[in-house]
Amino acid sequence: MATIIDGKSLASRVRAEVKREVEEFTQRHGYAPALNVILVGDDPASQLYVRNKKRSCEEVGIQSTIHRLSSSISSEELESLIQELNNDENVHGILLQLPLPEHLDSHKFINMINPLKDVDGFHPENIGLLSIGTPRFVPCTPLGIMRMFEEYKVGVRGKRAVVIGRSIIVGRPMALLLIKHDATVTVCHSKTPNISEIAAEADIVIAAAGRAGLVRGDWVKPGACVIDVGMNRREDGKLTGDVEFEEVKEKASYITPVPGGVGPMTVAMLLKNTLQAAYIQTRA
Ligand code: GUN
Repeated sequence: MATIIDGKSLASRVRAEVKREVEEFTQRHGYAPALNVILVGDDPASQLYVRNKKRSCEEVGIQSTIHRLSSSISSEELESLIQELNNDENVHGILLQLPLPEHLDSHKFINMINPLKDVDGFHPENIGLLSIGTPRFVPCTPLGIMRMFEEYKVGVRGKRAVVIGRSIIVGRPMALLLIKHDATVTVCHSKTPNISEIAAEADIVIAAAGRAGLVRGDWVKPGACVIDVGMNRREDGKLTGDVEFEEVKEKASYITPVPGGVGPMTVAMLLKNTLQAAYIQTRA
């Protein structure tokens, strides 16, 4: 049976680590690192994520501000808020919560964020740096997953990794990060035929497709490490991942649960990236 990777407890250790560094930063500079989150519309999942982010910031001494905007906001209004935050030297990190309402093109607004404040690591400059192997800000979920590998001594070098999903939030940056760490990487997505056969050859499976219970026991090679990034809401309101946990845990060597796996690590890495943004801007 698999070792269950405890993301909740690892995230709490990471937060304690960040808290010490934030204290040191704040003492040295006389101000705290500051994160500004832009939340457009009233998507309940986004509201919950943003509340969690704010609470975690408070816990470690990062100053956080949430800008709540109506879903009917115009493109110009959103643009002018981003420019204002770009120009505000008291703001170190800017996070535009996704998804945006349909009439707003997320790429356009991500591109407007000062790349030195882009704590999500979604700006093309930061994705470009990651893709050439010299990362600056790495997207929080893939970064959190790499930290799990380190802590649990899951080797990546020379391993076959299959990433299911190609979003800019998880799948693509995850693949780039695994390549940087010398894995042999295959990316599967909704148009890939025979995903199960491809997954069954992997030493590491990252499930980030957003489809409840997609990865079954017979998709997994015995001894593989299976990371579940899925956050799917079931009809009864319970959170469930992309992996059929009960089946897969019998075959895998390591597995992450949902909840209590990847989710808490994502928020912990956002705190780390915000501190990094404050350092970068202090040096600039
Ligand atoms: N929506 C879901 N996950 C994320 C994330 O990590 N960052 C942002 N900005 N939006 C998200």
